[in-house]
Amino acid sequence: MLIQKSVCLRILTRSSYHASKIRAANFGTQAAASSLPEPYAPSSFRLNDNDEYAPVDWNNLGFGLMRTDYMYMMKCGNDEEFEFKQGEISPYGNVELSPSAGVLNYGQGLFEGTKAFRRVDGGIFLFRPEENAIRMQIGAERMCMPSPSVRQFVSAVKQTALANKRWIPPPGKGSLYIRPLLIGSGPVLGLAPASEYTFLVYASPVGNYFKEGTAPLNLYVEDEFHRAARGGAGGVKTITNYAPVLKAISKARDRGFSDVLYLDSVNKRNIEEVSSCNVFIVKGNTLSTPATNGTILKGITRKSVMEIAYILGYEVEERCISIEELMEADEVFCTGTAVGVAPVGSVTYKGSRIDYKLSSPLVSEKLYSRLIAIQNGVVPDTQRWMIQID
Ligand code: COI
Repeated sequence: MLIQKSVCLRILTRSSYHASKIRAANFGTQAAASSLPEPYAPSSFRLNDNDEYAPVDWNNLGFGLMRTDYMYMMKCGNDEEFEFKQGEISPYGNVELSPSAGVLNYGQGLFEGTKAFRRVDGGIFLFRPEENAIRMQIGAERMCMPSPSVRQFVSAVKQTALANKRWIPPPGKGSLYIRPLLIGSGPVLGLAPASEYTFLVYASPVGNYFKEGTAPLNLYVEDEFHRAARGGAGGVKTITNYAPVLKAISKARDRGFSDVLYLDSVNKRNIEEVSSCNVFIVKGNTLSTPATNGTILKGITRKSVMEIAYILGYEVEERCISIEELMEADEVFCTGTAVGVAPVGSVTYKGSRIDYKLSSPLVSEKLYSRLIAIQNGVVPDTQRWMIQID
């Protein structure tokens, strides 16, 4: 079913409406996001403008964990009626857990990924962190966990970014990837929700996610392993969606592929998602991406790219996309917080490899340039996606 421009617009409007309802309940409006109270952070953790950068080779950042200075932690247990109270910044380090913690035994956990950017004028900005907060709340409901309010989530992300300011790469060299985690930390033996929850935030400076850098990806279409099934938890960012794809990824990487594209588990015919990111196809002036029906993560970069594409005059559709359609597309690309917007050079399915014509400028390049320009403050942030935190 083709979704025409007006219908697609309705989809965008509907989801914005849903998001704003949750936001109103927890946080106020987008305008309120820019006026968060000053973060709670002991003054010894503050960095002033003269502080130096951390000792990092900023020209060769990949996507690996670099130990930074501080992390954030906030707990809630049933003695407090499952409400998160005041969290705090502490030196980065190991976390103590019971061997019978819910997260260790039954995988009761969620994570998020968001980024902080340093601009040429020195300003530090977050990209749409309230979207991550809302997504964590939706995921927490699915996983029977209490979640931080949007205000608590955004404040924690802000504090973590500022406490680790010297690790935020120079403008244009990368970003500080911020990883919020929500875990069932209380002990449990019988299968049940944990009795205590911990919200943690840590950060690491990052560059390109793939070792290919910005070069086109070579994807392997997996028809044996599936990422998610109807009725499962593929639509939320639970930690349990990620370990099961490691086998498929490592098999594909051993054969020289960048990552794996999964098919739907019922018909093995429609494309769903790549291990670490969402996928789009381009045909003529139309961008299409698999509709999120519970098996596909509602990516924040996916949503942002759809909005940018619409503004740039493309038709935008969310719908079922068959593997045959993917193979006949003009262009294919991936989106994700970690990945950014990455062009796909080839797709291999059942032994046949399709190489896409990569004539510049690619649609994905145009979209990514606009996204980066918004993040770096080079074009006006008309959507009010960026929050200045310093
Ligand atoms: C992100 O893009 O933030 C993700 O969570 C993907 C992860 C596999 C690195």
